[in-house]
Amino acid sequence: MNTVLIADDTIYEELYDVRREAEHAGNLVEEDMNPAMNALRERAPVQKGFLRELLNLPFHQRHVMAVGRQGYTSFTWEACNTAFRDHERFSSRIMHHPAAGEEQRLGILEMDEPQHRCYRNMLQPMFIRPKTLTWWRDRFINEIVDTLVSNLKSQDRAELNLQLCARVPVHTITRAIGMQGDDALVFRHAIVKSSAHGRISVEEARAASETVDRMLIDLIAKRRAAPGDDVITGLLQAELELPDGTKRPLTEREIVINARLVMLAGGGTSWRQFGITLWALLTHRDQLEAVKADRSLVDKAIEESVRWNPTDPVFSRLVAEDTELEGVALPAGAVLEICLGAANRDPARWSNPDAYDLHRPPQGHMGFGMGAHQCLGMNVARSEIHVGVNALLDAFPNLRLDPDQPAPYLTGGLEQRGMSAIPVLLR
Ligand code: HEM
Repeated sequence: MNTVLIADDTIYEELYDVRREAEHAGNLVEEDMNPAMNALRERAPVQKGFLRELLNLPFHQRHVMAVGRQGYTSFTWEACNTAFRDHERFSSRIMHHPAAGEEQRLGILEMDEPQHRCYRNMLQPMFIRPKTLTWWRDRFINEIVDTLVSNLKSQDRAELNLQLCARVPVHTITRAIGMQGDDALVFRHAIVKSSAHGRISVEEARAASETVDRMLIDLIAKRRAAPGDDVITGLLQAELELPDGTKRPLTEREIVINARLVMLAGGGTSWRQFGITLWALLTHRDQLEAVKADRSLVDKAIEESVRWNPTDPVFSRLVAEDTELEGVALPAGAVLEICLGAANRDPARWSNPDAYDLHRPPQGHMGFGMGAHQCLGMNVARSEIHVGVNALLDAFPNLRLDPDQPAPYLTGGLEQRGMSAIPVLLR
């Protein structure tokens, strides 16, 4: 099972290249957009226009629902916080993809209350503490990280974005779902393709989506026959309590949709954020030394990286009724883009917000979202990065950027940012 984990497989290079991933999705932005997002926030808390329009970037619409609609963007902490929390005025139905028919594809991410709460209540026990601290970490993350870091011990140099950051989440999630070995990469490949509405044909995306469904349906059948200790078994055994109080098990279709969402939401985000965390530490040597000396700072380092550069700095909502936000009138049917990247650097909330500073006083950020849809897997992500950073520092106390390689930079789309590469010297 560990062979695929450490394999020198080109499929990792194909799947885990932030720049290529964005090019493939048709939304590549090379430049660091933080200064421009900050400038927009200073201009006004809420503005007419999609974020990309306001930033003078080529239009790329990831939500089919947004086509032909008016766009608005919120920038300040206050405005973004209100938009995330007020699900009656700002609906998550924007995530729905009508091109796929009326069928749901993104499970709870595209639901509104009270339906969302019912499904989330049923999923939540598999993701919240203490389960994340014990089940996910002890059953999967520790062993995966240990294998990967041990494998690096024979090397003097490494590219951590590919050799560590990419591999921990994909194998954690696929094993947690109940998949083994090569299936992890086949599944990841198919799921990335199935959700790429950029450069691949509709037929290719549909074929990939069918592969995803088939693999999940096979797995569900296996777990029905022989329950295991995994997320699919958990979903098979879960009881959904509907708003009217009736209770029932999930249908096979509901299990497929929610398992697919967990895979999609948890595969790429943690990889990119893990890389951003390492980059932050490796380029702020004084803070890296502080973390080495006091490992209780690892969690602060992770949290500060999600505030400073969240991998995905913008999420959308559908305006459900004629309303206003920070004095700007928003018509029903418009799209509101919540620029949490700008809100996370709002000087009204943080002093010196553009600096990466893990010593700043703890203060909630928006990198995992806010309100009812706040990231379900955030503690899994935190655990993956926590175990990974600690293992690296234990094994390689002299860890530093490789001066003979190009310096890492933040790249990808405005919608999914991550590191170009993280070349390091291990000794
Ligand atoms: C550092 C890594 C991660 C970041 C930055 C992140 C970020 C986010 C954000 C901002 C949202 C809110 C979306 C919205 O309000 O529309 C979200 C939702 C979600 N995330 Fe994550 N995520 C990460 C890792 C994960 C992982 C590892 C998993 C699964 C194991 C996961 C599963 C989910 C799910 C299922 C939702 C939907 C929750 C709902 O709609 O109630 N995420 N994530």
